[in-house]
Amino acid sequence: MMVCEYKPGLEGIPAAQSSISYVDGQKGILEYRGIRIEELAAKSTFLETAYLLIWGELPSKEELKAFEEEVRLHRRIKYRIRDMMKCFPESGHPMDALQASAAALGLFYSLRDLHNPAYIRDSVVRLIATIPTMVAAFQLMRKGNDPVKPRDDLDYSANFLYMLHEKEPDALAAKIFDICLILHVEHTMNASTFSARVTASTLTDPYAVVASAVGTLGGPLHGGANEEVIQMLEEIGSVENVRPYVEERLQNKQKLMGFGHRVYKVKDPRAIILQELAEQLFDKFGGDKYYEIAQEMERVVEEKLGHKGIYPNVDFYSGLVYRKMGIPTDLFTPIFAIARVAGWLAHWKEQLAENRIFRPTQVYNGKHEVPYTPLDQR
Ligand code: SDX
Repeated sequence: MMVCEYKPGLEGIPAAQSSISYVDGQKGILEYRGIRIEELAAKSTFLETAYLLIWGELPSKEELKAFEEEVRLHRRIKYRIRDMMKCFPESGHPMDALQASAAALGLFYSLRDLHNPAYIRDSVVRLIATIPTMVAAFQLMRKGNDPVKPRDDLDYSANFLYMLHEKEPDALAAKIFDICLILHVEHTMNASTFSARVTASTLTDPYAVVASAVGTLGGPLHGGANEEVIQMLEEIGSVENVRPYVEERLQNKQKLMGFGHRVYKVKDPRAIILQELAEQLFDKFGGDKYYEIAQEMERVVEEKLGHKGIYPNVDFYSGLVYRKMGIPTDLFTPIFAIARVAGWLAHWKEQLAENRIFRPTQVYNGKHEVPYTPLDQR
């Protein structure tokens, strides 16, 4: 029973009904549970926004305090997972280390109780609390150092930066990092969230759901683009080289990393805020030559592709913010994952509430009735 024509990449095909977030790609609007991203970036925190997305309402003061305290108490990772990470090759990509570690967490909580709100909450707290610790631990271990323990006296974002750099972060940097997490936490039916929902629909555990989504996020057409953008800006090297670089890539039918979006046909509202955050860091800690190159690239790409609705997306300026915080380029996508775990878990919970296993159909364009050819006749 075919209900609609085949659309490559399921473009424009609703895969779920959801009340978690909303995007208007023509107007450049993004809302989490109906609240505009600009409001949340200005007034909320990552953990408060995570709570909003997962449980549907902004928490009361007591609810937020309890959630923050539970996450704080669960930041440490099992020593067996740390010992497992010691066997990972230093040359491995941190997204692969994260995917393996998130899946391994499920080994310690194998009793699934998907209809029990307490199990849902425990899983949410464990994953939101430990993913940053896993990312920081791999970073220190691949440098040959022991990971540092989380500091309970620091808030979520300050603690991550502390675990990463082994020193307390600048207050502005920690605040800006927390806003970056808010900007990356959720974005309707993107590829990794779709992965999360498909995996959730089989009623497997939330650790497998997150591991599946981490694997999807890592690709350069999705969350991996932020790392590619910095490599692209480094390759361009100067403002003068921007135009020839863009023209050559377009000539060769190659995509420009950090530009374009399946839904936004205007500049990504997250890119606008990330640009402002980058400028705040530049004002305090000094500029970045790649920012001038990025701004020139935005101008040239608008001139050449603006008519096709191709503008900067969330990945175009995020890397410049993280670079200014001294974060290695190949950790940009794991940081995207630290934020997006809360969005994936909101969709996990929503999928369970009204579940039907995903099983789409296909348009078969192969052969029929083909006879088997014996090996000695091939
Ligand atoms: C994220 O879905 C989400 O919400 C994702 C995300 C989230 O928060 O979860 O927003 C995060 O993944 C942002 C996107 C990061 N990826 C990149 O920056 C990689 C570069 N971007 C492109 O690969 C592309 O724009 C996509 C993948 C983002 C969207 O691809 P589509 O919708 O499948 O578009 P398409 O490839 O079909 O292109 C349509 C046209 C083509 O031209 P024509 O063949 O019609 O002439 O636009 C062109 C493309 O060549 N085009 C680009 C381009 N993106 C589209 N041309 C040059 N550079 C680009 N970046």
